[in-house]
Amino acid sequence: MKKVFASSRLPGDALSRLAQHCELDTWESDSPVPSAILRDRLQGCEGLLCLLTNRIDAELIAACPSLRIVSSMSVGVDHVDLDALTGRGIPLGNTPGVLVDTTADLALALMLAAARRVPEADRFVREGRWDPAAPWHPDMFVGRDLTGATLGIVGLGAIGQAIARRAAGFGMRLLGWNRSPRQVPGVQTLGFEELLAEADFLSVNVALTPDTHNLLGRDAIAGMKPGAVLVNTARGGIVDEQALAEALAEGRLFAAGVDVFSREPVEPDNPLLGLPNVVLAPHIGSASQRTRERMAALAVDNLIAALKGERMPQCVNPEVYASL
Ligand code: GLV
Repeated sequence: MKKVFASSRLPGDALSRLAQHCELDTWESDSPVPSAILRDRLQGCEGLLCLLTNRIDAELIAACPSLRIVSSMSVGVDHVDLDALTGRGIPLGNTPGVLVDTTADLALALMLAAARRVPEADRFVREGRWDPAAPWHPDMFVGRDLTGATLGIVGLGAIGQAIARRAAGFGMRLLGWNRSPRQVPGVQTLGFEELLAEADFLSVNVALTPDTHNLLGRDAIAGMKPGAVLVNTARGGIVDEQALAEALAEGRLFAAGVDVFSREPVEPDNPLLGLPNVVLAPHIGSASQRTRERMAALAVDNLIAALKGERMPQCVNPEVYASL
């Protein structure tokens, strides 16, 4: 039987389904498998089922001559050296689609929480700072409305479009920018700088690639509308965290909601950690039970299809199928 290594236990019955098609070796710990152990466990394996916390680089791929299938339980594949896989004719599966609504929900949650200062207000109540001498006053925890504000969506893929649908329900004006021109009903497309200058809320929804690395760098952040709210549910490397923290500390931006970081977990000296006007989350965009089960199921469907010599239902590099 063909051997497969799964770098994590998965929700639902995904791995028991996979085990019916291969000899399955599973990493049981919640800590990511160290790369040297990953390389050792992959010897003799045809398949790898991985998470976004596993670095699948050219060195690892070269050290695993039997590998011919990789399936990641993630939509983003910036942890994988795609060229190295494609060069070997190895298909890479990912899990788009199933996490769109859940991730869009989190973007809205962060937008609302940052604009209405929900975590700051929560801390205020819990820490006993709600003063009986001043129980309510007109300027207590005032924030920003979504209704009537302009949302700029950086990246009009499926998640960006799902955010647009939600934001329309809040009565927001919708602007968008996409690297390759894309028309989305109800969303006015603008140039990148114009979008930054006009958006009261900016939602980052592009994949992390060499082209989008530092897309929201120091100059772009300086070009954002004064008082804007930035929300990033895409990938950390897209936004310059130091420049963002400075803009927030100086009050040039009103607030931010950040689910993804250039280093995860964040290091204790990450400049965003000390700021009251930032809502933080530990990369939970797709974290609902149903969505995680659907991601696991799709990741396993990709792997099983490849084990059977069929096309993966969701393949990032379909060019490897030129001969199928
Ligand atoms: C989550 O960030 C994913 O890429 O699925």
